[in-house]
Amino acid sequence: MLERSVAPHSRFRVAALLEDAGAATHPGVNVESVSYGLSICAERNALFGALSRGASGFTRLAVVSETMRPVLPCGACRQVLLEQAPGLTLVVERADGSPEELPLADLMPRPFTEFRRKP
Ligand code: THU
Repeated sequence: MLERSVAPHSRFRVAALLEDAGAATHPGVNVESVSYGLSICAERNALFGALSRGASGFTRLAVVSETMRPVLPCGACRQVLLEQAPGLTLVVERADGSPEELPLADLMPRPFTEFRRKP
């Protein structure tokens, strides 16, 4: 999957694989733009693609790169992942390459999850 990453600017290739309730998996890679701010992370691409295909009940998300262990989702990805999958387990690589599982919610204390319009 890392070969599908489009990262000509950072050269930091990231791949994510999101598992849904039926154990189907949904891939995502980071895709960068020459207008840097338009780039999107692997995690959000995996999530948005999965939602676009009608998937739900997300259980686990694995994230890898070639050069960094572990890769943990950025703040923007943590926010959107938590909104769609509050019970999500992240699967990342330890320095020795073995898998480490951790709850997304542990990385996102006191989240902004909803708002209500004042009457
Ligand atoms: N990136 C991801 O895809 N996921 C992460 O968790 C961290 C950052 C991407 C965004 C950008 O294309 C490149 O890595 C450098 O920030």
